[in-house]
Amino acid sequence: MWLILFLLYFSGDMVKPITSSLSINDSAFVCNEKFEDNRQYFYSSHPYTSVSPLPTIYFVTPTYPRREQIAELTRLGQTLMHIPNLHWIVADDFDGCNTFLDYLLNKFGIPYTHIASPMPDIYRSFAPIPRGVANRRAAINWIRNNGKKSGVLYFGDDDNAFDLRLFSEIRSTQRVSMFPVGLIGLYAVSTPIVKQGKVIGFFDSWPANRLWPVDMAGFAVNLEYLALSPNATMPYRAGYEEDEFLKSIGLQMAHIEPKASNCSEILVWHTQTKKEKSAVVRIDSKILESDQTSLGPLLRELEALGVSHISSSSGIKAHVSKNGKTKPLSSVL
Ligand SMILES: *[C@@H]1O[C@H](CO)[C@@H](O)[C@H](O)[C@H]1NC(C)=O
Ligand SMILES: *[C@@H]1O[C@H](CO)[C@@H](O)[C@H](O)[C@H]1NC(C)=O
Ligand SMILES: *[C@@H]1O[C@H](CO)[C@@H](O)[C@H](O)[C@H]1NC(C)=O
Repeated sequence: MWLILFLLYFSGDMVKPITSSLSINDSAFVCNEKFEDNRQYFYSSHPYTSVSPLPTIYFVTPTYPRREQIAELTRLGQTLMHIPNLHWIVADDFDGCNTFLDYLLNKFGIPYTHIASPMPDIYRSFAPIPRGVANRRAAINWIRNNGKKSGVLYFGDDDNAFDLRLFSEIRSTQRVSMFPVGLIGLYAVSTPIVKQGKVIGFFDSWPANRLWPVDMAGFAVNLEYLALSPNATMPYRAGYEEDEFLKSIGLQMAHIEPKASNCSEILVWHTQTKKEKSAVVRIDSKILESDQTSLGPLLRELEALGVSHISSSSGIKAHVSKNGKTKPLSSVL
């Protein structure tokens, strides 16, 4: 039975094999792309039609073959159907072009590029595996090779959930914008801490000496700004992809544009298709009750949403990361 299914699957044209050999060098292939926007029902009713062109959002989604792949991409595609001026770059960690994926992407009507960007074999033996890196590098290369120098780049994984307001917020990114990502790590959130409209540090339960301890879904980059760093790239180093990428574009703290009401609300969630217990974050009640920084309102919101709990006596101790070092929260607030 399974053998028959297997033969049916691989004998049809579901998978176009790629013949070129793969080396340690990045090796990615554009499987299919489409630039026209076929979402007529959308444009006929959307207020954006009459205004001057909006900057395009290049929404990069790394994906890989697994049980949940099509379910996740269906859900994400139906979110993106609401977003005007968006080009979806779907990069699949697979050494062939999955034609069912093209069929699915075509149905949404969203302009897209489908890339096959298999991870070079050598990295598959790494622990942890640097998943998604070959995909995102391929997308960055596609942006460069196609001379895309205006618009906004955003890395949105297929297992995230997006509030539609995120897209209008990131579209105005001048250099690099940042915002909280819900359900990350032991704090159940990863976010910049904002005081008087400026980023003063980071709240992330895995600081790991990172200069930029943020999640992949927690920032957006303007393409003109990206083009200033022609060598910008993402390393095959699990856990440090965001940090090294943001270092490679020469980011400075003063350049960060906080979004999502000065980082006090969640517009993107790292949902993942699995269940976790909610976190207990140990934090001084003075910080929690204060509105001096974005952290008090944000953590109160997460408590109200039932995402995490706050305690002054138990749980994971809260700290702040700044300049690659961690400190007690009280030292910076
Ligand atoms: C990349 O490919 C080129 C040409 O095939 C080869 O000369 C070079 O050694 C490769 N780079 C690495 C790091 O393997
Ligand atoms: C962010 O904070 C700054 C400084 O307090 C304020 O001027 C600005 O209006 C705030 N932005 C939003 C969207 O709340
Ligand atoms: C990019 O890398 C090349 C080769 O390593 C180097 O010569 C060049 O100066 C770099 N450019 C920038 C803007 O860093």
